[in-house]
Amino acid sequence: MKIYVPADAAARALGADAVAAAVTAEAKARGLDVTLVRNGTRGMIWLEPLLEVETETGRTGFGPVTAEDVPALFDAAFGDHALALGPVEQIPYFAKQTRLTFARCGLIDPLSLEDYEAHGGLSGLRRALDMDRDGIVQEVTDSGLRGRGGAGFPTGIKWNTVKDAEAPQKYIVCNADEGDSGTFADRMIMEGDPFTLIEGMAIAGLGVGATKGYVYLRSEYPDAIRVMTEAVRRARVFGLLGDSVLGSAHAFDMEIRSGAGAYVCGEETSLLNSLEGKRGIVRAKPPLPALEGFLGRPTVVNNVISLATVPVIFEKGAEHYRDFGLGRSRGTIPLQIAGNVKYGGLFETAFGMPLGEIVEEIGGGTASGRPVKAVQVGGPLGAYLPVHQFDTPFGYEEFDGQKALIGHAGLVVFDDTADMLAMARFAMEFCAIESCGKCTPCRIGAVRGVETLDRIGRGDGGAVEILTDLCDTMTDGSLCALGGFTPYPVMSALRHFPEEFSVSRKVAA
Ligand code: NAI
Ligand code: SF4
Repeated sequence: MKIYVPADAAARALGADAVAAAVTAEAKARGLDVTLVRNGTRGMIWLEPLLEVETETGRTGFGPVTAEDVPALFDAAFGDHALALGPVEQIPYFAKQTRLTFARCGLIDPLSLEDYEAHGGLSGLRRALDMDRDGIVQEVTDSGLRGRGGAGFPTGIKWNTVKDAEAPQKYIVCNADEGDSGTFADRMIMEGDPFTLIEGMAIAGLGVGATKGYVYLRSEYPDAIRVMTEAVRRARVFGLLGDSVLGSAHAFDMEIRSGAGAYVCGEETSLLNSLEGKRGIVRAKPPLPALEGFLGRPTVVNNVISLATVPVIFEKGAEHYRDFGLGRSRGTIPLQIAGNVKYGGLFETAFGMPLGEIVEEIGGGTASGRPVKAVQVGGPLGAYLPVHQFDTPFGYEEFDGQKALIGHAGLVVFDDTADMLAMARFAMEFCAIESCGKCTPCRIGAVRGVETLDRIGRGDGGAVEILTDLCDTMTDGSLCALGGFTPYPVMSALRHFPEEFSVSRKVAA
């Protein structure tokens, strides 16, 4: 019998290790031959720990399971039981998804290259090995893939700049400093399907002529660091990484580097400084990292999801990928649904699903059962979208048209008890704490922003104008997205919930 219990950090936080230990102990006590696989998560976090059993008709799920439930599950021979969920891939939340990037996540043993290959892994890289650099970069361009870290810059154009740059050494740097609130897609794929990121980086290396890669992984993700480090070791032994990638004339190797907890190191130039052992402070652009990046050499800096999507593009073809989506947002996006929501988790779907459907139908509305007030999309620098904007389709341009951004596709849901003035203050305070200090609008502006919001909270209605002016200065004058985007949550809260910023607020209180 084969049993799967996720080793993903979210599942572990919910007790998966105890469940795994109970399965091993129970099987031993009953003299049963059980193979326990520690898979990644399927992304249905409210069902974790989700125990799966392999049957003749596919994998059957039970969840959320505690260690105490395990003996009864064995008694029921993993059949009729109150926690039975039926075939995992028929659970509506899962069945409604279009899983391209996350196709293997939760399905395979994350560190088994055999399992990886058996589920389509390496076929993209093998195809890329038969192509020249121009062909590889063209394939990515044709797929319509845009940077999934948040900015949505076309990946093929970025790769082309690096490909055409003349230099004795080029690099691929993976931005795995996933710092946005409510996001976990990078962590989930690194823990659940690490070879897909390695394969994507190897294809990027072939495409632009880079032989060395780095994954800059935040220190708050110890499980992902452990899994990625072991995956890189195994990939070298296998011949996927090294002087001869899969027996070819191409070399590509990579290393895992750990960050030190600064949010701003998710910004590509401070990330590069940190990677070089310097203080994580933002560099002015130009020069673009594509021309002068790591150690001054041409460097592709891409987010985990951008790189982890490359293998499926090469496996199934650019056209297959591009056929999904809406407008200029092509392919799929792993939505990360979090906050006060009933069904929190990862939901990969083609671009274009209306925000309201994501929150109310997929997420099931609030966990508190109260009405939804707003959703913050795109992390702490993302705008709050109230219910009247819920018909907005999930896409880069569509969100831009609403003075919002999709960022790394994290959604944090709030019910009607949320205090929007407090949320605006939190955004300014976050910026003040995380500012690298290089430019004045952010370094000073965020501190003044907190003070101004406190004045508004004390009933000083005149300070609203000052806040608006300050936000304009931060938007126009900041060097990077941290200072430049903090006005998104602040101004959206003010725009959509003006009554919470008014003098009457104090009177009512
Ligand atoms: P950006 O718009 O300055 O640049 C986008 C990317 O395109 C960069 O990698 C840049 O170097 C590259 N680029 C631009 N022109 C190019 C050219 N001609 N050739 C080659 N490459 C070129 O945006 P930035 O500052 O890199 O990112 C801002 C975004 O980051 C925001 O939208 C925000 O949502 C997101 N973000 C994500 C976080 C996360 O945890 N994933 C955290 C904070 C912000
Ligand atoms: Fe640094 Fe803030 Fe300026 Fe960005 S906006 S460079 S984080 S001070």
